[in-house]
Amino acid sequence: MTQQKITTTPFDDQRPGTSGLRKRVTRFQLPNYLENFVQSIFNKVPALTGGVLVIGGDGRYYNREAIQIILRMATANGVARCIVGRGGILSTPAVSHLIRKYKTTGGIILSASHNPGGPDGDFGIKFNGDNGGPASESLTEAIFAESQTIKEYLISDAGDISLDEEYTTELDGMPVAIIDSVDDYAEFMSQLFDFDAIRALIAKPGFSMAIDSMHAVTGPYAKQIFEEMLGAPEGTVMNGIPLEDFGGGHPDPNLVYAAELVEKTRGDNGVDFAAATDGDGDRNMVLGKNFFVTPSDSLAVMVANATLIPAYKNGISGVARSMPTSQAADAVAEKLGLNSYETPTGWKFFGLLLDADKITLCGEESFGTGSNHVREKDGLWAVLFWLNLLAVRNESVEEIVRSHWKTYGRNYYTRYDYEAIDKGIADQLIAQLTQTLPQLVGTELGGNRVSYADNFSYTDPVDGSVSSNQGLRIGFENGARIIFRLSGTGTEGATLRVYLEKIERDEANQQAETAEVMKPLVDLALELAQIGELTGRDAPTVIT
Ligand code: G1P
Ligand code: ZN
Repeated sequence: MTQQKITTTPFDDQRPGTSGLRKRVTRFQLPNYLENFVQSIFNKVPALTGGVLVIGGDGRYYNREAIQIILRMATANGVARCIVGRGGILSTPAVSHLIRKYKTTGGIILSASHNPGGPDGDFGIKFNGDNGGPASESLTEAIFAESQTIKEYLISDAGDISLDEEYTTELDGMPVAIIDSVDDYAEFMSQLFDFDAIRALIAKPGFSMAIDSMHAVTGPYAKQIFEEMLGAPEGTVMNGIPLEDFGGGHPDPNLVYAAELVEKTRGDNGVDFAAATDGDGDRNMVLGKNFFVTPSDSLAVMVANATLIPAYKNGISGVARSMPTSQAADAVAEKLGLNSYETPTGWKFFGLLLDADKITLCGEESFGTGSNHVREKDGLWAVLFWLNLLAVRNESVEEIVRSHWKTYGRNYYTRYDYEAIDKGIADQLIAQLTQTLPQLVGTELGGNRVSYADNFSYTDPVDGSVSSNQGLRIGFENGARIIFRLSGTGTEGATLRVYLEKIERDEANQQAETAEVMKPLVDLALELAQIGELTGRDAPTVIT
């Protein structure tokens, strides 16, 4: 077996988006497409030569093939050792944990998160560094730049290795350890949370719960943690077998795509607690009986109650939220005297704040919450956090959230997504709106005065790096906000996201339907951006 040097030419579309490089599977299957990107990583992270690399993915179509290619390239590039999840399976937070636990040089995660999978679906790849977190903006840019001038890559001509047993083998001289995908992570969770209290809650007569793994990566994790370790009845975990096409579903835990789970929470016999996770296990949705917890509220509740959880019992340093996430967590931080930060969308912006201990908890409106335990958002961690909270407070999900609103105010929140619109039109819409922003400040719109209107720019408080063009914000004196942003994860045309928030401090007005409360703000947003006129759409693709 020998190392081969293969001549190649660049692909012009390898700039990673919000979270790694995501494209159609068919694009990744083009000769040299995956190889070019992987070699660009090796070229820009020289420590990988002689270093240790974790590799795993969410089990979607092309996962196994990609792992074999990356292993052959790793050995040809002089990687000292690789750690791979059995069957090629590792959730995104599990990779982050393994990197930290075994102090490796980094990890390669194969996932397109919540995007559909299968031969016609999406595939993705990203690199996480030695802190366990996604590569920084500057490293991501450097990897992209490298991919644009790449001329050759290194690969061994060795054959495939079996990924299906736990063992250590060798690939062209490089040791490869195939490890259990779940054990390290499950053990870690049992150190962070009070498993005895959660076990007692689950065993309580009358308590019922359901967990939806959406035929994606968390199936084996959820079964081991909830059914085996915490004693939940068999069948608590729904759709628990990871499938290459997620059973034809869309593994995104929201009210639309996890409808089967939501149904289980409805009516008098609805379960007391329900949760779903996404394709690669970093997102979560939490529900109570007849009650949905918005991800922004979930983060705020976690901040307010953190000291009730063993891992955070000595207090937390602060919280960060992505800019479009509601300001609910800010209100808690202010009251408790904690640091609070507003960052651009995407988990990579939380890493430095976590490393510097400026924050302990962080989250996004897009069903992501996490803490300093890893450097990714973590779906099952969030589920365990909530179960631990229910056990300690001995209240229902709804009671906990309503009492939170009473103390801190309710941030009504909704997001409209317009998917697969023409890229040129999307750019035009943003450009036109950007021009009108300065004139809006100080004017009254829909009865509220605009206090700021800008294109969000972020200066990292740790390393001073600046990220601009991170979304258009319109903020009102009463705390309401309208935000417009183009998605950085879509693989077809452009996706316009419109985020809307309205704050209600009076308990008497906290019982209304979100859609009703948000209607005037939605109408205003549609008019300001001329969404109907420009896109020809009379309704969004998804409302969350
Ligand atoms: C979306 C979410 C963002 C999240 C990312 C990765 O990115 O909005 O919060 O970090 O997926 O899960 P977007 O498509 O908006 O760029
Ligand atoms: Zn994900």
